[in-house]
Amino acid sequence: MNRLALGTVQFGLSYGVTNTEGQVSEVSVQEILQEASQHGIDMLDTAAAYGESEVVLSKQIATNQFELVSKTRPLSSMKGKLDQVEKALNQSLDRLALHRPLYGMLIHHADDLLGPQGDDIWKLLQEKKQQGRICKIGVSVYSAQELDLICQRYAIDLVQLPHNVLDQRLRISGHLQTLQDNCIEIHVRSAFLQGLLLLQDIAALPVHLQELKPALARFQQRAGELGCSTLALALGYLRQQTAIDRVLVGVVNPQQLTEIIVAWTEAASLPLHCADDLAIDTEHLLNPAKWSLLKVSQ
Ligand SMILES: NC(=O)c1ccc[n+]([C@@H]2O[C@H](COP(=O)([O-])OP(=O)(O)OC[C@H]3O[C@@H](n4cnc5c(N)ncnc54)[C@H](OP(=O)(O)O)[C@@H]3O)[C@@H](O)[C@H]2O)c1
Repeated sequence: MNRLALGTVQFGLSYGVTNTEGQVSEVSVQEILQEASQHGIDMLDTAAAYGESEVVLSKQIATNQFELVSKTRPLSSMKGKLDQVEKALNQSLDRLALHRPLYGMLIHHADDLLGPQGDDIWKLLQEKKQQGRICKIGVSVYSAQELDLICQRYAIDLVQLPHNVLDQRLRISGHLQTLQDNCIEIHVRSAFLQGLLLLQDIAALPVHLQELKPALARFQQRAGELGCSTLALALGYLRQQTAIDRVLVGVVNPQQLTEIIVAWTEAASLPLHCADDLAIDTEHLLNPAKWSLLKVSQ
């Protein structure tokens, strides 16, 4: 059975198209971590590029109780200098892998691995794995094409990819199944599409995302027909995907995490395949990296 893990970009940055609360305060982070740990959530996802997230986590005693996954600094932010990437990697490990090896280190941008310095980055991570500082090496991807290219070149242990009730593309294409067949661990992000799936009032959609209205209306209607919350339906779809190992959720306060934990249990009793037909296939709406372009074009 797949399990929840907690995303922490919100601990280091004011992140998310629906986030009106800004960066989570350190007191709230402490409460969220306590709530997570009490309910058996045992993994955190962070990244060197998530503002202060790694630093905030390194200061919290409760962080010891979690397996940690972090991500390399993108080469572009290091002006293409590999020694700077290595320096940042050591900094992440010194902050986070104090008491035990890091569960996973992901290459944050697949392009870094596919470019001319890919082999050097891969070698760097292999060395850290051999030294016992990292258990699994992986990559964060945005598309099926990136995933295919990476898997052709490197024997990754872990992949983080976007997937949710509207964005079912990697299930429909067979990628989830193939990854599972090859024993590659799958962590899913974008479970709530940055919170858009949980908007009560569709009219409150940002102007540049109005095109999502019909898909969101169908999703809300289905939750009504099934007699469950939209939160339970979003989680229920993911819970039914047995190839997925971890479903990452991002929260901005402890109450949201409590609601997620309750809904995760509720989601277990939803009928199989009850949301498979809610998928859409519109890259510019499903990929948050494209949203800023939509904003500009309006
Ligand atoms: N490339 C990468 O590697 C990458 C990229 C993006 C994210 N991530 C990881 O994935 C994690 C999750 O981010 P995501 O983009 O996938 O976000 P998400 O989990 O799809 O959505 C998170 C947002 O949903 C809203 N939410 C959560 N619980 C709620 C509840 N009970 N009721 C109402 N709203 C609720 C919150 O927004 P509001 O309360 O503000 O509405 C929250 O900020 C991040 O923390 C990060 O670790 C990784």
